[in-house]
Amino acid sequence: MKKTISVLQKMKQEGQKMAMLTCYDASFASAMSSAGVDILLVGDSLGMVCQGRNSTLPVTLDDMVYHTRCVARGAGDALVLSDLSFGSYQQSKEQAFDSAVALMQAGAEMVKLEGGAFMAPTVEFLVARGIPVCAHIGLTPQSVHTLGGYKVQGRGDQAERLLQDARALSDAGAQMVLMEMVPAELGAKVTRSIPAITIGIGAGKDTDGQVLVMHDMLDVFPGRKARFVRNFMQDASSIHEAFANYVQAVRDGSYPAPEHSY
Ligand code: KIV
Repeated sequence: MKKTISVLQKMKQEGQKMAMLTCYDASFASAMSSAGVDILLVGDSLGMVCQGRNSTLPVTLDDMVYHTRCVARGAGDALVLSDLSFGSYQQSKEQAFDSAVALMQAGAEMVKLEGGAFMAPTVEFLVARGIPVCAHIGLTPQSVHTLGGYKVQGRGDQAERLLQDARALSDAGAQMVLMEMVPAELGAKVTRSIPAITIGIGAGKDTDGQVLVMHDMLDVFPGRKARFVRNFMQDASSIHEAFANYVQAVRDGSYPAPEHSY
């Protein structure tokens, strides 16, 4: 069955966990989709894992359009979600609309932007014009230099602010909220507090779904791994099996385990 937003909303209502992975080309899109991955995120993490850069900042909208086209061709029943690249949406609502149109015309079915309540007017503008939006909060990698590194967000006093951000974005019409590197307790609280689908990466087990960067869960990206990463290749005899095991672990709640959470 095609994973539309309404199918995903029904999964949320029924308590069925959703599995998302980052994806950058048609072959992997097809393998993920046939393994049951619900959502393919054409992430700007491609800057690191495909282009060898050290952040997502150099990724352009043209890069995102190219990879979205590739993924859309192999996506099958999975929903295609694409990142708006750094600098392609922050300037004005109109700039965000033009950039989102480019991604939708390349095959995206939803676009993702980073930022809290201050992005709510942009979300409202896009949604009113027929563009489904996922809002990315918590650790927002495009702001790595403002945040001072890839650190856990929403601890202590920051928790209430993150909850307010999630509410503002959901009220503005975001149908999905992705939380990166926040305490598990806060991930659960946000999930209980908003109607939007919540997806976590290092946000604990209680979000409606999980996402991992493909190169991390296949253990092909060199260097130190974040706490939330699990190597699904370790017990698999093929990449296809690793994807299927990930879907199964997300669905049955065995991933993420406490050791993957903050
Ligand atoms: O670009 C990306 O891969 C992402 C994930 C970290 C969620 O946004």
